[in-house]
Amino acid sequence: MRVPIISEVGGVSCVDELWEKMSEPGGRVINILNQIQKDVGFIPRALLAEVASRAGLAESQLHGLVSFFSSYRTRPTGKHLISVCYGTACYARGAPLIYERLVEELQLDADGTSPDGLFTVEQVYCVGACSRAPVIVVDNQVMGRVKASEVPFLVRKLRNTRD
Ligand code: FES
Repeated sequence: MRVPIISEVGGVSCVDELWEKMSEPGGRVINILNQIQKDVGFIPRALLAEVASRAGLAESQLHGLVSFFSSYRTRPTGKHLISVCYGTACYARGAPLIYERLVEELQLDADGTSPDGLFTVEQVYCVGACSRAPVIVVDNQVMGRVKASEVPFLVRKLRNTRD
């Protein structure tokens, strides 16, 4: 069965075509999931089910794989993406406190997204600005020497952003 998808993935329009295009046996499933993640921004359940079916796997097996790797998302990211650096310098200077404050302030779910879908928070490793630790990246803007106490102000400012 072909599952139509909203956007093209890897220049093709269904998992059957992706399956044929990515014919190398080793890593075929991973390559297809990577392509879907890259093009769609997350792994929609319908596509996960189709990839599982094509690979002769139970959907739950593939779901376990997707859940294990933080690089895969199972739903779209929020309008604002906040990446908290968990590299050594940032961790030592309070990154966990910032992350915990974001989780609390935004009531993040297991996917790291707020209930209103406005925010997604993720942990990343060293964004290359260690001298400014602790660092977060908000919508591609690096912010250094962030304090956990500043989180509510940041969230309020982003909520008031109109674009
Ligand atoms: S450890 Fe955070 S920027 Fe390097």
